[in-house]
Amino acid sequence: MKSFYITTPIYYVNDVPHIGHAYTTIAADVMARWKRMEGYDVLFCTGTDEHGQKINRAAEKLGLHPKELADRVVENFKSLWVKLNISNDDFIRTTEERHKRVVQEAFKRMIESGDIYKGVYEGWYCVFCESFWSESQLIPERRCPDCGREVEMVREETYFFRLSKYQDRLLKHMEENPDCVKPESRFNEVYSFIRMGLKDISVTRTTVKWGIPFPLDPSHVIYVWFDALINYLTVAGFTQDEEKFNKYWPVVHHLVGKDILRFHAVIWPAMLMSLGVNPPKMVFAHGWWTVEGEKMSKSKGNVVDPNEVVDKYGVDAFRYFLLREVPFGLDGDFSRDAFINRVNGELADNFGNLLNRTLVMVEKFFGGVVPEPMEEEAVDREIASLALETFRKAKEYMDEFGFDKALREILALSSRLNKYVDETSPWALAREGRKGRLSSVIYTVLEGLRFLTVMLTPFIPKSGERAWTMLGLEGKPEDHGFSSLVWGKFPVGIRVKPGEVLFPRIEVKTEVKREEMKVESFVSIDEFRKMDLRIAKVLSAERVPKTDKLLKLEIDIGDERRTIVAGIAEVYSPEELIGKEVVVIANLEPAKIKGIVSQGMLLAAIDRDGKPVILRPERDVDPGSKVT
Ligand code: ME8
Ligand code: MG
Repeated sequence: MKSFYITTPIYYVNDVPHIGHAYTTIAADVMARWKRMEGYDVLFCTGTDEHGQKINRAAEKLGLHPKELADRVVENFKSLWVKLNISNDDFIRTTEERHKRVVQEAFKRMIESGDIYKGVYEGWYCVFCESFWSESQLIPERRCPDCGREVEMVREETYFFRLSKYQDRLLKHMEENPDCVKPESRFNEVYSFIRMGLKDISVTRTTVKWGIPFPLDPSHVIYVWFDALINYLTVAGFTQDEEKFNKYWPVVHHLVGKDILRFHAVIWPAMLMSLGVNPPKMVFAHGWWTVEGEKMSKSKGNVVDPNEVVDKYGVDAFRYFLLREVPFGLDGDFSRDAFINRVNGELADNFGNLLNRTLVMVEKFFGGVVPEPMEEEAVDREIASLALETFRKAKEYMDEFGFDKALREILALSSRLNKYVDETSPWALAREGRKGRLSSVIYTVLEGLRFLTVMLTPFIPKSGERAWTMLGLEGKPEDHGFSSLVWGKFPVGIRVKPGEVLFPRIEVKTEVKREEMKVESFVSIDEFRKMDLRIAKVLSAERVPKTDKLLKLEIDIGDERRTIVAGIAEVYSPEELIGKEVVVIANLEPAKIKGIVSQGMLLAAIDRDGKPVILRPERDVDPGSKVT
């Protein structure tokens, strides 16, 4: 059996998972499911990165031991992966014993290769990125060129890894394996970076204690990135399970965000060369998500929690959107509009609607039993070849991680099938009593739906399974795999089982408007009605002595006279107000201002210069008229 190994980065446990983590993990999951359905023996792993200064500091802030913090946060990742239907075969935590063993073994081998030597590191360090930087790499104000945060000076005894020694071998490896870094633009970036020259890199720390002890010298712990990268070897059985390792390592594919490409495409292959192990077959760097056009950040408060999106719209809408919206490798924007357009346009109105209308017709015309096709026409054969062609193209795109293009092809087949229903017009065929032709049309659509469901299942596994059951088919689509994509195999005579709508449309009117409004907190209509807003007539006005801004007004609010104090004297003279109609809130709690009890408040707009502009009715109305 052909094998396939795919990984996600292992995520830091200093923070809760967000849409970025979900993205990489979902992409890897879709690929793992796709390959399994192609008949591959798949190893798909994810996990958490739990050592290092960043985690240590985060734990200190909370008054926890770093392991306690990790034990808590890891649950957020694990439960999110269950919720997102992630089918990982393993989940590694770098604090596990099995990992420590492999890391130490790997270090022994790098030492044996003569690649580790003692020295002193003096330079800058970004704790957020867990990255060393030289002075010349920093951006102004001594900031990290990757994340823009302030860096810290480090001076400590350390062991170095001879990265420089591997420069030429790395270049040669890239020249001979043009697919080892994807997409191509990233390949070129990495290649030029290596050509500019590599420096040896510090791989142990003495000022950090939270890590795996360095085998030669226990006063050093292993630099967190060297520890973390080795996770990919640990889960593949390196030095522990030779058979497993030989099966999966040659076909390892690392999915990473562009932020950590250098670690994976420069340092990691050099480490592997030092270990006498082949560099990864492929490192694919995907792009970065923004939210409504802005960079995600805690301080902006715009970090998208995947749990919320899933609770609101369903797991498959979320999975589908992330992979459909943006070509894998490019940056993308997560916006509510785009999300709703995709889900409504492609899942609800296209695929979901096709399934729904077809099942209704099977019920209506054939009592829910799948008919035998009796009267084929050329267009049916055209649909059949389109379905086969769609799978061929989708597979080709998936071979190069072109998730969005594969989905585009699949959805185009769904559109064609909807159009086919419109053109063949089954309702008219039924009216005309053309049962033979009707049976072929319905059969063709059902068979098209079977193809669609099989191909969509890796992307939307829960819905794929539901669609499968509604079509009356046995088992699950993934058990049937892509080898079941042979036209004409839809079993005749089985009963379909219509169920709840697969993808309900997201109602845009109420929903989106609310989300789009720039409102800090909403008031209900009842809360608004509690306010007694009225038209008032100004009867008299005078300045409040010893103030610049205040006017004292006597007003008529219909059934009562009131006194109010208004901060408008800089702009309005008492004379110009007398006899005018204004808007007041009549049931505001009275307040004493400069010794005068103000029994209400005048409403005014604030202009560009911060000056009040009084609100007045557009025509004369009676004092006391309600404002609503
Ligand atoms: O870097 N858009 O962990 P991490 C897309 N522990 N993807 C995003 C994203 C965004 N806005 N934000 C994060 C680490 N990601 C190390 C990895 S691997 C041996 C060690 C994703 O928790 C993307 O995959 O900071 C990125 O590479 C990863 O989260 C970084 O996760
Ligand atoms: Mg990060």
